[in-house]
Parts: sequence; C-alpha cells; structure tokens
Amino acid sequence: MKAKNGTMKAVAVFPGRAGTVHLAELARPGVSDVPNGRGVLVEVLRVGVDGTDKEINAAEYGEAPPGYEFLVLGHESLGRVLEVGPAVTELAPGDLVVAMVRRPGTSVYDAIGLQDMTTDDAYFERGISRLHGYLSEAYVESADYLVLLPRSLGEVGVLLEPLTVVEKGIGQAYEIQRRLKIWKPQRAAVIGAGTIGLLATLALRLRGLEVDTFGREKKPHLNAGLLEQLGAAYLSTQEETVAARVAARGRYDLVFECTGFSPMVFEGMAATGKNGVLVLSSITGGSRSVDGVPADKLNLDFVLGNKVMVGTVNAGRDAFETGVRDLIHAEAAYPGWLAQLLTHRVEGLDNWPQLFEALNGGKGVIKAFCEVRPL
Ligand code: BGC
Ligand code: ZN
Repeated sequence: MKAKNGTMKAVAVFPGRAGTVHLAELARPGVSDVPNGRGVLVEVLRVGVDGTDKEINAAEYGEAPPGYEFLVLGHESLGRVLEVGPAVTELAPGDLVVAMVRRPGTSVYDAIGLQDMTTDDAYFERGISRLHGYLSEAYVESADYLVLLPRSLGEVGVLLEPLTVVEKGIGQAYEIQRRLKIWKPQRAAVIGAGTIGLLATLALRLRGLEVDTFGREKKPHLNAGLLEQLGAAYLSTQEETVAARVAARGRYDLVFECTGFSPMVFEGMAATGKNGVLVLSSITGGSRSVDGVPADKLNLDFVLGNKVMVGTVNAGRDAFETGVRDLIHAEAAYPGWLAQLLTHRVEGLDNWPQLFEALNGGKGVIKAFCEVRPL
C-alpha cells in the first residue's frame, strides 16, 4: 500500500522469531484512516520500553497484525496532536496525549468499554498483540483511545501507561473491598521493586498507606533510595524475607505482587491479613511449578480470614484518568521524584539498539525510553 502521506520509520520485530528487532519503513498514517471523523494524527515524542518488549523480541510473546509479517513495537507512549478529524471536539493540535493499549474485541465487556476485562482469548493490544504500536514517527488513533495530559506533565508523561497497570490493580482492590463497608487499609506490601513496584509504592503512598516494598538486592541502591524518598520501607529479601517481616510486624491489608517470579505469589498469600486483598500483576510466561507449598495452611487462612486474591492486566480509561491525577499529585507531593525513574534516554528511532541494550541487562535501568522527537 503506497500511501499519499509518504513513508516513515518504525521499530519492529518479526513475532515468533527471536532477536529480529529492526528499523522498518511503513506508510505514514493520516486522520482519515479512522472512520466517522474521529481520527487524531499524533506525532510521537517518547516511547518507553519494558519487559513485554523484551519478551516480544525474544519470541516468547506478541503477534503481528493480520496481513503483516512484522509488528511495530511500543505501547508506552507520549505524543502531540498534529491534526484532528471533523468529529473530534475533545482534542486539538498541540495537545499532549497518551494512547491506551488495548482495543475492543467481541465479549460483552469489550462492548461497554471494559476491553481490559475481555473474556476473549485473542486480544488486541497496540505494540503487543495484533496491532502496530507507537515506536514510530507518528500514529493515528480514534480520539476514544487517547488521554489528554496537561502540558506540565510532558517530562514524565511517558510513565503514564506503566502507572495505569498499577492504577487498575489498586482500583480493583478498592472496588472489591467495598464488600467490607468500612475498609480502611493502613498497611500495604509491594512485592517487587522494579518500575511497577516503584509506581505501586507511589500510588499507595499517595493514598496514605504505610508501605513495605520488597526487592532482592541489598541496600544501598537506586530503587531503594527512591522508595525511601516516598517514605516507604525498602526490604531486601536476602536480609529479611516477607515472612520474617510479617512475623515481626503483622500481616498487610493490601499486598501488590509484581516480581515476575510466580513463587512469590505464595509468600504474598501468607502475608495477606484477615479481610485483606492480594493483587497479582506478574506476567509469568514460563512453566515453573513449586514444591513444598503449605497448601492446607494457605487455604485455611484464606477461608477463615475472608481474604481475596485478584489478577489484573492492562488498564481501561478510568485507570488512565486516575493515573493522570496521580502524576499531578506525585509532582506536588514528591517534586522531581518521577523524573528520576527516567534513567535511560535514547535519542531518535535510529538508535533503537540502545533501547534493547538497556532492556537486556543495562545497569541501573528503571525506565529506558526513546525520545523520538524532543518535547
Ligand atoms: C502492558 C499492558 C498489557 C500487558 C499484557 C504490559 O506490558 O503494559 O498494557 O496489557 O503487557 O500484554
Ligand atoms: Zn507494559
């Protein structure tokens, strides 16, 4: 398809073939590609990368759009509106936007805007599954899937998408706990101190909880320091296990698991207090099984304690909007904290190899991102 708008560069992979990330050329999109005048043409400013991109390039995950051999990567975006279709009233050229990731499939949840809760087996996620992502010069999208960001959030806006994953999980926990009529969580544990663990700790601190965040590495290190700036406690599991901390201080009202290591789920279960809630967010594509799990004890405590365990993936518009408010709140409560997460800036799409170097074992990497175009 030779487009009237010319071509543009994008970073893509051949899904199912490991290590195939490359610079591709494809047709530049136009507003009229989206029906009903709802198109928004966006110039890409920044795109963050994460473990999902790493797995896609390792051929463990990801699928190309129908009719394509390649998949354009990138689902953590920040862009600026260039042009809007005639039926777009909520956005204007110059606005900063972040695009949502998942698009509706066929289940009843998709039909009411809750595609993050789809029951379909095949799901559509830009940059991940069956839809091209944002790691390109520009993209076009319906205004329905774009979220407006205040200009003052430009510097940290690329963190919105990973934050939404946390916002959805915490939002689900609070929603579930309405069953308790007077739930007032005080103590939370975040198991995992990577990017998601840092953002989960932030969101819980902004809600006034006391937070213990567990990671593997011993102090001092960058992430531990950042957690302490939030007033959270950082615990290295090499020095104090989750179980030891619980024995000393008691169980938690809310536990957020985000290590990517499934055996930690059982530790999370054991650390969840009576009437408490455990949120699981690790995407564990392997085939690990665990011996020696105290199944009777875990089950008995869950039953006698009316506890809940909930899985969470992706995020809907509500979580994006809560995320924007939390970014604003974070800038006010902990000025400059968010920007410290942006550890690795890679200038221009041409330098894509540096993104993958950072993902594959770069030192001190919290968030690596491509600055496709300066803010
Ligand atoms: C993305 C989510 C997505 C999930 C599963 C994560 O990296 O941030 O939006 O739903 O992967 O594909
Ligand atoms: Zn992601």
